[in-house]
Amino acid sequence: GHGNCSLSTNQMEQRNLSANTVIDHPRALTDKITLIRDAGPSKFQVIADFDATLTRYRVNGLRGQTSHNLLQQGNAEYDAKRQALYDHYHPLEISPVIPIDEKTKLMEEWWSKTHDLLIEGGLTYDAIKKSVENSSIAFREGVVELFEFLEKKEIPVLIFSAGLADVIEEVLRQNLHRTFKNVKIVSNRMVFDDNGRLVSFKGKLIHVLNKNEHALDMAGPLHDQLGVDTGEEDEDEANAYVKQRTNVLLMGDHLGDLRMSDGLSYETRISVGFLNDNIEKSLESYRQAFDLVYLNDAPMWGAVELVSRLF
Ligand code: TMP
Repeated sequence: GHGNCSLSTNQMEQRNLSANTVIDHPRALTDKITLIRDAGPSKFQVIADFDATLTRYRVNGLRGQTSHNLLQQGNAEYDAKRQALYDHYHPLEISPVIPIDEKTKLMEEWWSKTHDLLIEGGLTYDAIKKSVENSSIAFREGVVELFEFLEKKEIPVLIFSAGLADVIEEVLRQNLHRTFKNVKIVSNRMVFDDNGRLVSFKGKLIHVLNKNEHALDMAGPLHDQLGVDTGEEDEDEANAYVKQRTNVLLMGDHLGDLRMSDGLSYETRISVGFLNDNIEKSLESYRQAFDLVYLNDAPMWGAVELVSRLF
């Protein structure tokens, strides 16, 4: 009989998906979906954090790496110097007692010292490639499908990170096996000389405290990098092209990531939070802050389903 018959793979996936999904106000979410759908894809964009949002929190049972800590300069002395900075500044980064302006100064200090060590230590593009090859970093299942869907609909994806743009791009290339013309990395970008040696960083420093506050303003010239033709020559107008996409899907793994859309006066925002760690302690605040919360290092299938319900 079929009393205890096993579920189809699809049904199991569905169950698994819903067991890992928390939606505090399903009705409010449905209303947002309707508003975004009615406005159409030309009004929509995706803003995502990189580490532990697009990538998995755990890889083979261990904490996955980030764009900073996967990097091996091929120069043990300088790798050790950067590690020493991490040991000093990371406790300050997560300290709950340091006032925000003081912490901002400390983070600027950390990031600029790290960038200087990368330059002094003679980082090459080749070392980045090798580091990524040897890294323990993996995208959540469904990220490729998400990007492909959005690319077809010409919907931009902005990836915000206080890490290293060139490393993130290499991670995308090696792990997704292709590039997406609608995906743009807003992060610290390196300048290499003709020998592939790092000589400087472009533009304003993006650290963990300013990335979420001014991320959209730091997106820089988007028209040549986004691939989607804005028909505009001017950088401000190209950025305006993103700014006029006032409906947003925002994805992050920290409450602070919600601020990534601050540079935008959005009309409707659906926020997705990945709660990877300390689930019991943090669930209440996450479910209040995000429209959807995914638990237990969930795959990206929920977001894929969400965008395909939109357009
Ligand atoms: P994000 O991934 O949320 O954008 O933040 C970047 C993280 O990178 C932040 O938590 C601190 C970390 N980091 C390092 O691991 N090594 C470094 O040298 C620096 C500057 C930051």
